[in-house]
Amino acid sequence: MDLKSTNRAFGGEVRKYTHASSSTGTEMTFSVFVPPAAALHAVPVVYYLSGLTCTDDNAVQKGGAFKAAAEKGVMFVFPDTSPRGAGVAGEDESWDLGTGAGFYVDATNEPWSKNYNMYSYVTQELPKLIEQNFSVTSLKSIAGHSMGGMGALAIAFRNPDAYASVSAFAPIVAPTAVPWGEKAFEAYFGADAATKGKEHDPCALLRKRGSAFPQFDDVLVDVGLDDQFLQTQLKPELLEEAAAAVGQKVSVRRHPGHDHSYFFVSSFMEDHVRFHAEALARKAAADASEGPSAPISAVDAATLASFAKTAGKPIQCSAAVAWGPKQPLTHETVTVAPPRAGEIRVKVISNALCHTDIYTLDGHDPEGLFPCILGHEAGAVVESVGEGVTSVQVGDHVIPCYTPQCNAPSCIFCASPKTNLCPTIRSTQGAGYMPDGTTRFTAKKDGKDVPIFHFMGCSTFAEYTVIAEISAAKINKRMPLNKACLFGCGVSTGLGAVWNTCKVEEGSSVAVFGLGAVGLAVVQAAKMAGAARIIGVDLNKDKFRVASQLGCTDVVCPSDHEKPVQQVIAGELTKWGVDYSFDCTGNVDVMRAALECAHRGWGESCVIGVAAAGKELATRPFQLVTGRVWKGTAFGGWKSRSAVPKLVERCLSGELPVDHYVTHSIAVENGDVAAATNAAIDALHSGDCLRAVVTYDDRNAAAGP
Ligand SMILES: NC(=O)c1ccc[n+]([C@@H]2O[C@H](COP(=O)([O-])OP(=O)(O)OC[C@H]3O[C@@H](n4cnc5c(N)ncnc54)[C@H](O)[C@@H]3O)[C@@H](O)[C@H]2O)c1
Ligand SMILES: [Zn+2]
Ligand SMILES: [Zn+2]
Repeated sequence: MDLKSTNRAFGGEVRKYTHASSSTGTEMTFSVFVPPAAALHAVPVVYYLSGLTCTDDNAVQKGGAFKAAAEKGVMFVFPDTSPRGAGVAGEDESWDLGTGAGFYVDATNEPWSKNYNMYSYVTQELPKLIEQNFSVTSLKSIAGHSMGGMGALAIAFRNPDAYASVSAFAPIVAPTAVPWGEKAFEAYFGADAATKGKEHDPCALLRKRGSAFPQFDDVLVDVGLDDQFLQTQLKPELLEEAAAAVGQKVSVRRHPGHDHSYFFVSSFMEDHVRFHAEALARKAAADASEGPSAPISAVDAATLASFAKTAGKPIQCSAAVAWGPKQPLTHETVTVAPPRAGEIRVKVISNALCHTDIYTLDGHDPEGLFPCILGHEAGAVVESVGEGVTSVQVGDHVIPCYTPQCNAPSCIFCASPKTNLCPTIRSTQGAGYMPDGTTRFTAKKDGKDVPIFHFMGCSTFAEYTVIAEISAAKINKRMPLNKACLFGCGVSTGLGAVWNTCKVEEGSSVAVFGLGAVGLAVVQAAKMAGAARIIGVDLNKDKFRVASQLGCTDVVCPSDHEKPVQQVIAGELTKWGVDYSFDCTGNVDVMRAALECAHRGWGESCVIGVAAAGKELATRPFQLVTGRVWKGTAFGGWKSRSAVPKLVERCLSGELPVDHYVTHSIAVENGDVAAATNAAIDALHSGDCLRAVVTYDDRNAAAGP
């Protein structure tokens, strides 16, 4: 997806993008209006389909939707009206067929069928792209003008569960019975025009259904009485007749003096934005309170009630404190101060151990600060919020994220699609403090209060911790927190390295060095991306069984070979090397091997592992001159607050299983977080551990659907 332009509007932003479309086989352009609310939370989306001859620009520049959309907190998406430059014979001969006139159908007739697939584009490909790349919920509505009004009505009537509401300006309501529709359907469907056309004819769809849509309690339609196409092409009365026949409410409003233009559309746009915003809000509320996908509160009433008592006061709780490098964690009762402005205090329910915690505890991080509370892969519940916090509330389930996402308009990192490295609280986080330069933790040592440093902005080896609001990813309450914690670091990182940092394509070859949780997440993501060959490399052969189950086609143990492993991969297993390689060990010699087994001419190698202090990378420059690319990733390139909740949704939907990462589960007993965490550290060192999940609060950990 390429960003072509950005313009500020009504506190939000209008952005234009192009991308390669699999539906049309061409480059497609679309525009979006991102409302200011999207910086704080995911927003619902209205898809707006334009009419004949339009591009995405017409409604963007003349539709007048943004003021109300900004107020209501809805995003608008404006797709183009057809593929462009597809090279189909005749596509540019008339204005009502071909270019600018896709009619939102999937053509079945040659020569149109290859590219003219606007139905799939608008209903499948584009929403998926939007949901992957923007801070949006899965709730959507649809609207359109003229041909786009027809498209909106037909799409909503065909997929009533997918849209909260539908509205139209001057729609072609019965395309099979008017010249524009007859001409287009004859071209796009050929001999099947009569039957196929009915599947895109709003009136025919209503009559065929034979009853009202419980999903749409009203359908809003505006027409101008001086519209030059009213009698010949639009015929709104046919929609009223069909709706009346099946008992569907449709509100057709007729406006004297108005024509077919954007002067007409923009005059009534605000009503449509409100109509959709209200329906979207109703659907969100209904989803939240009932139905099989309803979120449930995994935290019991007693826990929630206890939050009301502790809010605003210091909390004394158990924590595992690291007093110095190479020392075991000790059990301490620490005092956790209430959150200050822009901060939240959370109750940690579960924590998975990541290698980076051990790396710091073992003294390999020269910037490691002691005494500190380590831990950064957790599932937690918000206990209280500091002044000015609006994006999370008490009782919300969150994953603390060491890579924050401030989304401030002035943050060029958050605004860029190229990176997730928001620097807003970087300096204080690195120094072991909260953003105001102080700590919220104190412990008693020899009778004195000793301040304790924070770690990676998380410090989750404690029953309660304080994090910045911009570090909290709010997730679906249906996700058990003892699994959710996995998304706090290693698993998300491996997935993102493949999908975001390297964008591994279908059919490519991949080598993964180190088959711990991070490496296995790389394997899982590469498999999901359709990689044809996945070579797993590890010194520990015990890792090979699960690696093969997850998708490795080959496994290599470097100590089985005389030659350096890079020469086994590039030379024996493949001729020229692999398209993508990943270091998931943190060993700089392995990083070199990973680069050198990348394909001559285009292979990319991604450093994920964190190397020990003072280590440097080496290779011959010729490796890069001959086309290899060396890159690295932090947290898999995910913009934490918008991306982590979506990963959790994909996990809940069954698309992204993660249970296999949890090889050890340890419960905190007698409130001793340190003993349980030390046991997890021993497990991680044992060699057969991927993730050891420590549960601080058993009662609330596994609750879920
Ligand atoms: N970039 C990031 O944002 C990020 C995030 C999380 C973790 N990490 C880092 O990623 C690395 C992997 O994390 P993990 O939790 O999966 O660790 P892990 O210890 O569970 O797994 C590492 C694997 O590498 C194997 N290995 C070690 N030396 C090897 C060698 N010379 N050749 C082949 N295999 C070898 C080990 O046997 C083990 O299976 C760590 O360095 C961690 O600090 C980075
Ligand atoms: Zn980590
Ligand atoms: Zn930022």
